[in-house]
Amino acid sequence: MQREGYERNDMKIINFGSLNIDKVYEVADFVIAQETISAKTLNIFAGGKGLNQSIAAARAGAEVMHVGAIGSDGDFLLELLKESGADISQIQKLDEESGHAIIQVTPAGQNCIIIYGGTNQMLTKEQIDQTLDLSEPQDIILLQNETNCLGYIMEQAVERRLRIALNPSPISETLLTLPLDKAEWLLLNEVEGKILAGMKKNAPVDNEGVLSALHEKYPNVRLVLTVGQDGVLYQDHMCRAAHPIFRVKTVDTTAAGDTFGGYFLACVSEGRDVSDCLRIASAAAALAVSRKGAVPSIPKRNEVAKFLGNF
Ligand code: RIB
Repeated sequence: MQREGYERNDMKIINFGSLNIDKVYEVADFVIAQETISAKTLNIFAGGKGLNQSIAAARAGAEVMHVGAIGSDGDFLLELLKESGADISQIQKLDEESGHAIIQVTPAGQNCIIIYGGTNQMLTKEQIDQTLDLSEPQDIILLQNETNCLGYIMEQAVERRLRIALNPSPISETLLTLPLDKAEWLLLNEVEGKILAGMKKNAPVDNEGVLSALHEKYPNVRLVLTVGQDGVLYQDHMCRAAHPIFRVKTVDTTAAGDTFGGYFLACVSEGRDVSDCLRIASAAAALAVSRKGAVPSIPKRNEVAKFLGNF
């Protein structure tokens, strides 16, 4: 299946995404099996790959509609989304516990994360259908693997000629059963890339090899592979491209990938070319790693413009 060209440059981003309360612990090193450690600090932030990506895309200037569910403890998540300019009319408030994440951050700014789904796992087909009725052909349906019903959303999106952007994170057995070739974009990091390419997580680093293997497996998917310190690699059926990272002091890498993804899609929705999308998204991600937390670290469009000198 060859991809259609874009007939619109005002695509809406409809994000069926997680909304988490992030409990962030600063630790000297990650806890290991049989060990008990003390954290230096605890901070509570808004997060969730879904919410982070919606806020990034909205701060980049895109028209964003977020679809999801929060519990009685999640009002501040809604407020932040609203403040960033995202449409929150399709978010349900349930009498349950919101999703949350337990995040350890080391002095080098690296993190490891445990998520608890909570209300993120309570999307209903009725809510999905109702939202999709508000879409127009070619709108972008953004998905991550922190909510339920992904298979159903993908099926409905294809039927309605919507463009699916999937961030296959976290990878799970269920995710691997989805028709990933139906996505127009896969936005993934090097570990997710290796797993989808059928390699072992700890296989030696060969980012170009991972990209080639993914391209062979999903020839019609636009692949956006973020590779940490090595920047980002891109491949579609026409071209291969790359962008290095912008060097900054790393404070906390949480949500850097989400910031990249949200900015990248916002630029796509404006009709920008691939190299521009990669450059702007890389700059936004660099600003995010230089700050603490998930949502508080996501830059606004004017900050990215200032950093780049133009945007
Ligand atoms: O990508 C970072 C996010 O992953 C955090 O905000 C956390 O909530 C988890 O979903």
